[in-house]
Amino acid sequence: MLPIVDIPTIQYIIKEAVASGIEEILIITNSNKHCMENHFDRSYELESRLEESNKLEERDMICEIANMANIYYVRQKEPKGLGHAILCAKSFIGNDPFAVLLGDDIVENHGGKPALKQLIEAYNEVEASIVGVQTVPEDEVYKYGIVEPSKESEPVGRRVKLSSMVEKPKCEEAPSNMAVLGRYVLTPEIFNFLEMQTPGAGGEIQLTDSIKSLMISQAVYAYDFEGIRYDAGDKFGFIKATIEYALEREDLQNKLHTYLKELVKTF
Ligand code: G1P
Repeated sequence: MLPIVDIPTIQYIIKEAVASGIEEILIITNSNKHCMENHFDRSYELESRLEESNKLEERDMICEIANMANIYYVRQKEPKGLGHAILCAKSFIGNDPFAVLLGDDIVENHGGKPALKQLIEAYNEVEASIVGVQTVPEDEVYKYGIVEPSKESEPVGRRVKLSSMVEKPKCEEAPSNMAVLGRYVLTPEIFNFLEMQTPGAGGEIQLTDSIKSLMISQAVYAYDFEGIRYDAGDKFGFIKATIEYALEREDLQNKLHTYLKELVKTF
């Protein structure tokens, strides 16, 4: 719920999902459940107070949040890792393919297609699981799930078939520098593997390990999506996102621009 400028991080992610055509959203939470529920719920009292004081723009903004999508919540009772969190969605998902968006990864594709939409379109071409990737510096591979492209098949545009995947490898052991950056479209068969998944990197149930197992019975692809990705879970990533989003805002850009110009003079 940490705001970037004045919008909670999760709202950027929900906006991307909605703009990609998703209508039903399940948020897997830890302790912030009520605060999120309240944020995305309708508040008739607040709406009519804003209406009475003629703050119609503000009223429309809070209605827009509540009308974005059907949002449901489930609480992950123990912090056992990303794979375990996704497993909490099993009965919600049923037997359909589904998208996963991680709460720390914000992707901005100015004027272009949202990252998730790009993945969904790639899914529609191959009807197989797709992980969203981008190239990261070689000395940062240890922070991510890293993909191994198949040597037997050629990339098709931005999509490439995978032969393996590894969670948080050492730099010298990484099969590439293409990192999974918080966007996935998965087939429901992933749950068969998540249910049996033993802890991996960091002692956690890793989604990456189950996707690697899924590759034995189904094709899995990586899609090198377009857009700038911010890691809002990292202090520096959060600051970058705040500055760059503020520079896009009409009410802030001039002031911030002038301030930044003055500030760099002092360096
Ligand atoms: C998670 C995933 C990892 C992925 C990363 C993207 O790791 O396990 O595969 O590359 O998100 O942000 P975490 O950042 O939760 O450690």
